[in-house]
Amino acid sequence: MSQAKLIALAAVVFLSCTQVTYAKTFCKPSNTTCWPNSTEIDALKQSLGPSINRQLKWTNSSQPRVTAVPINSASDQPLYGLSQNASLDPVYVRSQVDLGNTCFQPDASRYISTFCLASVRNYPYEGWTPAFVVWPVNASQVQIAVKFARKHNLCISVAGTGHDFLNRHSCADGVLIRTALLKDAVWDLTDTKGFGNADGNVKFGAGLVFSEVHKSAADNNRYVSSGWATTVGIIGWSIGGGHGPFSPGKGLGVDNILEVDIVLNSGELVTANSMQNSDLWWAIRGGGGSNWGVITAITIKAYKIPTGGFSFWQASWQGTFCNASLSQLDSFVDIYQNWTLTLNNQFGGLTFISPSFTNKTSDCLGTWSIYMSYVFQGPSTNANLTQFTTALTNAIKPTTSSTTSYANWWLLVQNKALEPIWPFAYLTPSSDYIGGLPSVLVSREVMSNGKWAAYAKARIRECLTRKNDNGCTRHEMYQDITGNVGSPQDQQVSISEGFRSAIVHYLVAYQDSTQIKALYSLGNNSYFSESAYTMDGFAERYWGSNYQRLQEIKAKYDPESDFACTHCVIGATASSDGITQFASYYLVLTLMSILISLF
Ligand SMILES: Cc1cc2nc3c(=O)[nH]c(=O)nc-3n(C[C@H](O)[C@H](O)[C@H](O)COP(=O)(O)OP(=O)(O)OC[C@H]3O[C@@H](n4cnc5c(N)ncnc54)[C@H](O)[C@@H]3O)c2cc1C
Ligand SMILES: *[C@@H]1O[C@H](CO)[C@@H](O)[C@H](O)[C@H]1NC(C)=O
Ligand SMILES: *[C@@H]1O[C@H](CO)[C@@H](O)[C@H](O)[C@H]1NC(C)=O
Ligand SMILES: *[C@@H]1O[C@H](CO)[C@@H](O)[C@H](O)[C@H]1NC(C)=O
Ligand SMILES: *[C@@H]1O[C@H](CO)[C@@H](O)[C@H](O)[C@H]1NC(C)=O
Ligand SMILES: *[C@@H]1O[C@H](CO)[C@@H](O)[C@H](O)[C@H]1NC(C)=O
Ligand SMILES: *[C@@H]1O[C@H](CO)[C@@H](O)[C@H](O)[C@H]1NC(C)=O
Ligand SMILES: *[C@@H]1O[C@H](CO)[C@@H](O)[C@H](O)[C@H]1NC(C)=O
Ligand SMILES: *[C@@H]1O[C@H](CO)[C@@H](O)[C@H](O)[C@H]1NC(C)=O
Ligand SMILES: *[C@@H]1O[C@H](CO)[C@@H](O)[C@H](O)[C@H]1NC(C)=O
Ligand SMILES: *[C@@H]1O[C@H](CO)[C@@H](O)[C@H](O)[C@H]1NC(C)=O
Repeated sequence: MSQAKLIALAAVVFLSCTQVTYAKTFCKPSNTTCWPNSTEIDALKQSLGPSINRQLKWTNSSQPRVTAVPINSASDQPLYGLSQNASLDPVYVRSQVDLGNTCFQPDASRYISTFCLASVRNYPYEGWTPAFVVWPVNASQVQIAVKFARKHNLCISVAGTGHDFLNRHSCADGVLIRTALLKDAVWDLTDTKGFGNADGNVKFGAGLVFSEVHKSAADNNRYVSSGWATTVGIIGWSIGGGHGPFSPGKGLGVDNILEVDIVLNSGELVTANSMQNSDLWWAIRGGGGSNWGVITAITIKAYKIPTGGFSFWQASWQGTFCNASLSQLDSFVDIYQNWTLTLNNQFGGLTFISPSFTNKTSDCLGTWSIYMSYVFQGPSTNANLTQFTTALTNAIKPTTSSTTSYANWWLLVQNKALEPIWPFAYLTPSSDYIGGLPSVLVSREVMSNGKWAAYAKARIRECLTRKNDNGCTRHEMYQDITGNVGSPQDQQVSISEGFRSAIVHYLVAYQDSTQIKALYSLGNNSYFSESAYTMDGFAERYWGSNYQRLQEIKAKYDPESDFACTHCVIGATASSDGITQFASYYLVLTLMSILISLF
């Protein structure tokens, strides 16, 4: 035997002995030994209180949104009105007729069953339809649902709003647990629980969305760190990272998590915080959704509203792809780049550059527009606000600009336009698109050395040669993370280190497998919740050197991988010599085939 063969054999033997914690084979509908029969399904329904009123209905803008709203839903009702005038069922069971590719089609031929309505979520992938959709009303009912799934060896996925971009709220033929009915809100304004946050804390049920959260906060003279959209859910946003207007001042979603209540795969309900199950608490502060258990409640930090409230500054610029106008856009990019470095933690904002070629007959008919909105934690009269906004608008005159003040954040979000969910398989990878929302975290260094600006200018110019494809796309710069001057940088988080040195989360959709390399040359890390679907080395990109520890914690709390999702943490235990080993069936199989070919 040659040396190479010996090494290969040793590797296969070693990896085969390592505990394999992924690639669990779940029960299939055709297997009558494990698949639940009608008596067992009825028993599940009965155990979930079938007569409890379960309603998800939106009144009007005087009241907060209650969950996400799918596109083209009459009077903006969730679930296409399934629960507008009636109670939801505790369990929806898939029938043969629901087994099309997806429940919905973008054209008029969509088929709608109550099962499809109850499982509505963003960009569901083909072939990933759950078999059961459960609507628990409290943590005990979540436990019942998890135990049912375990008993029948079914995979478990979780959806609150269903806003996830990367299909992480899905698993084929399993149990989809929907948490939207868990709506408790308990405020502790004086920190009697002793978490150490002077302005207090709040325990939210897993079903609350930011619209409800901001209303509840305003009623208590507080605000919380949040995303921009109103129907995004508190859980998915918080545990994957969580950027938004207040993050530069008050931290990302992960930084604000004080405690979670979570139902583990065993069916046990546990609490995780800095003292109790602290490894799980750390993992949840960045380890992402649907992977550790079902979170039933989350306690986060609360903040007193700044004197004078909040200011909302907006500005826009417009131009064409004629040379003179295009060089103005170049100037903007250069000036903006320097400007971002000067902002302190009172600011959090976003900048979108949108190039477009609707009329492709001449370069000069191409257009670009820039939209900026920055939130300032303080009144519009504050000298820092006027100093920094005029620094930019004096350097390059905007088409429009305005500043509006709000006594609390609910007053702004109350009338915000809806960002609907799309229940079709749209962001799916294809031959010329890697899928999802390709993005990169850009450090202060890359922002100051001109690399970001050079990339952005070149990519915008690509529109001239790619008028007919999706390559001419929007550039989204989110300066709403924790890279501003004076931003808090809690270290007890499992997000990547690159998230901490980053000043902008930069998103440029529609990349193919070649183009993405240029984007990734701007940074080694990407944001878990808004990133490409196809990603080599995803674990490094999301978690960097935190990944090994995350794998061990996954193996401890979900040893059989009943919770699994795309590009999520895969469990692995530390081997006896202390080296963490990651082994999947695929790796073993690959090595075996190499071995076979060698002999
Ligand atoms: C319109 C829109 C705007 C957005 N804006 C921002 C933004 O400003 N800032 C930002 O950071 N992100 C933003 N995002 C991304 C957003 O944070 C993610 O899509 C996030 O995952 C959504 O969380 P959710 O709970 O609403 O969605 P869901 O699809 O319900 O859940 C998201 C993930 O969390 C898991 N999950 C949900 N609930 C639970 C639970 N109770 N227990 C365990 N796992 C759970 C799901 O399985 C899934 O993996 C936006 C997304 C959309 C669609
Ligand atoms: C059916 O399920 C049983 C119990 O989980 C399992 O032992 C068996 O291997 C499964 N059969 C097939 C064909 O997958
Ligand atoms: C369903 O399964 C249970 C438990 O295996 C069994 O006791 C019961 O007889 C089955 N019911 C039907 C209708 O097959
Ligand atoms: C909104 O609904 C509430 C409760 O049904 C009602 O009292 C109020 O008049 C409505 N407001 C508007 C603006 O329609
Ligand atoms: C619910 O009732 C209202 C008022 O009668 C009606 O307008 C609406 O269409 C109903 N919704 C559904 C989904 O049936
Ligand atoms: C959950 O709800 C069910 C049905 O209303 C109720 O019987 C049960 O006591 C509740 N559990 C808890 C912990 O509140
Ligand atoms: C822009 O300048 C280049 C180089 O001088 C020239 O080739 C091109 O035709 C110009 N385009 C427009 C739209 O003016
Ligand atoms: C940006 O800052 C650098 C370094 O201070 C400087 O050299 C450059 O001229 C600035 N660019 C613009 C457009 O202000
Ligand atoms: C595109 O612009 C040209 C020049 O202005 C014009 O003649 C033509 O009608 C336009 N085409 C469309 C589809 O608008
Ligand atoms: C302006 O910003 C500086 C630097 O971040 C800060 O120290 C100061 O308190 C701010 N001033 C006001 C009035 O908010
Ligand atoms: C990415 O990581 C490599 C290796 O550690 C390093 O050399 C490189 O500078 C990093 N890239 C950026 C943009 O930070």
